[in-house]
Amino acid sequence: MIAPDSAPARAPVMFPPDAVAEDAGGPRPGVVYLVGAGPGDPDLITVLGLRCLRRADAVVYDRLVHPALIAEAPAAALRIDCGKTPGRAGVTQEETHRTLVELARAGLAVVRLKGGDPFVFGRGGEEAAALTAAGVPWRVVPGISSAVAAPAAAGIPLTHRGVASSFAVITGHHAGDPAAGVPEWASADTIVALMAVGRLGELVEELLRLGKAADTPAALIERATLPGSRTLVAPLAELPALAERAGVRPPATLVVGAVVALRGALGAELQPSILTSFEPAQIDLPLNAPSEVIPT
Ligand SMILES: C[S@@+](CC[C@H](N)C(=O)[O-])C[C@H]1O[C@@H](n2cnc3c(N)ncnc32)[C@H](O)[C@@H]1O
Repeated sequence: MIAPDSAPARAPVMFPPDAVAEDAGGPRPGVVYLVGAGPGDPDLITVLGLRCLRRADAVVYDRLVHPALIAEAPAAALRIDCGKTPGRAGVTQEETHRTLVELARAGLAVVRLKGGDPFVFGRGGEEAAALTAAGVPWRVVPGISSAVAAPAAAGIPLTHRGVASSFAVITGHHAGDPAAGVPEWASADTIVALMAVGRLGELVEELLRLGKAADTPAALIERATLPGSRTLVAPLAELPALAERAGVRPPATLVVGAVVALRGALGAELQPSILTSFEPAQIDLPLNAPSEVIPT
C-alpha cells in the first residue's frame, strides 16, 4: 500500500507556501491545501498530496475519500468529516467554508482532502474563492480525476488515434433543456459523465436526443480502482436497464463513444496487476445484441 515518507528532511516545495513563511516574526498564519485524493485506491494520491497530509494539523475530508488516506495524517491532527451523501442533508458548503476559514485562522495547516481532483466537479473553486475572500492563503494540489481514471482503470482509452480525438466531461445532473439547442460538449468524440447513476435514464435519453446513435458503445464503471469494481458495457440505449438490473450504485462513471469498443481489444490492461490493490470485474454484453442475462 502507501509507502512510508522516506523524503529527506528538507523544506518541501509547497509546504509551507511562500506566502506564509514562518520567519515573519508573528504567530504562524494558517493555510489551506486543497488536495486531490484521487479516484478511490489510496495509492492513487500524488506524492505531494501525501506529503501535505502527513504534515497536516487538521484534515477536512469528503465522503469518497478512502479511510486509509485519512489515517495518514498525524495522530494528533484534527479529522473533520464534511461528506455529503447524495439525496441526504449533510454539511452545507457554507459550513465547510466556515470550518476551513476558522481552522486556518487558528494558525493550523489544513488539508482539505477531496475525491479525484479538487477542481473537477468538486466545488474546489468555490472553496478557494471563499478562502481568498476571507484572506486565508491556500494552495491546490491536483489529483487524478475519476473522469480519466475510471475509464483508464476499465481499459477504455478516452482518446485513440483514428477513433476519438476529443472528450468532454459533463455532470449527470446536467439539466437538459431541449430549447437550449445542442450544447458544445455533445460534439466531443467521447463523453464522460460523472454523478450519472441517479438519472442515468434521463441522461441517456438526452444523449440520444442530441444525436448519439442508440448502438453507440457505452460503459458504466462502478467503484473504479476499488475492490468490487464492476464495468458494465452495452449499447447506449440499453445501458440504463442493464444498470438497474445489476443494481449499480454510486460512485460510477459513464463513458459513451466508440472508444468503449476498444476495451478488451487492447489486451494487456485486463490482466491482473501486481501493482494495484484492486481487480476490476466486467459485466459484458455483446454491443449489438439486446441485453438478456447479467452474469454476476
Ligand atoms: C462530486 S463528483 C467529484 C469528482 C471528483 N472531483 C473527481 O475529479 O473525480 C463525484 C463523482 O465522481 C465519480 N467518481 C468518483 N469516484 C469514483 C470511482 N471510484 N469510480 C467511478 N466513479 C467515481 C462519480 O461519477 C461520482 O458521482
